[in-house]
Amino acid sequence: MENINLFLVLTFLILIVRLSDAKPSSDKFFMDKMCGNESIILDGDFKPGTSFQLTSNSKYQPNFNCSIKFRAAQSTQRFVITIERMNIVNCPNDYLRIYDSSTLLNKDIKQQCGTPSSFSFTTTTGQVTFTFTSGPGTKSSGFQIAIALHFPAVPACPQNLGFFLCKNKNCISKKLQCDTYNHCGDFTDELSCSMVGKK
Ligand SMILES: *[C@@H]1O[C@H](CO)[C@@H](O)[C@H](O)[C@H]1NC(C)=O
Ligand SMILES: *[C@@H]1O[C@H](CO)[C@@H](O)[C@H](O)[C@H]1NC(C)=O
Repeated sequence: MENINLFLVLTFLILIVRLSDAKPSSDKFFMDKMCGNESIILDGDFKPGTSFQLTSNSKYQPNFNCSIKFRAAQSTQRFVITIERMNIVNCPNDYLRIYDSSTLLNKDIKQQCGTPSSFSFTTTTGQVTFTFTSGPGTKSSGFQIAIALHFPAVPACPQNLGFFLCKNKNCISKKLQCDTYNHCGDFTDELSCSMVGKK
């Protein structure tokens, strides 16, 4: 009996190791756990991109107000933001707004709430703020967003130096390729990937 248990534990550990091997290289977090954080830094060497959902719960809270800000480590770096999924049914009372420094990027109300299909922006500054506000009433799951550093000042975006040139000409870190998140904005970093995820 004990031997069987040991066997199961070992098998389980091996599985965990395998899974973490295949794990996407960009991590993921929940916005409602980071409210008020104005200094989430993306850095080309350490953290070139990430992905987040509004909440780890199946639905977000009513009367909820949350804001987070990303900053690029270098002044020449920009961001590619892709709203991979949006499900904010209590529209327009509940909404997401995305600011490129102080410029509202998703001006169209159809990109602030509702259930639009995936859309993306490339910023012109190295600071982006996400603000989510909900009123009372029906709640839904919110959204999932991928964000990546974009390196417009890197000439030709060379793969051999750790960059990946998206079809739409965004230049992102090669580390974000094949991590299942749409970091390019046009999904070209997720094409031609093998089953395990990593090329
Ligand atoms: C903001 O988030 C970053 C990245 O996760 C973390 O390192 C930092 O400690 C946070 N700052 C605050 C004030 O919560
Ligand atoms: C959300 O919070 C911000 C900052 O605390 C405040 O300025 C804003 O008015 C709030 N919005 C709502 C709808 O409560």
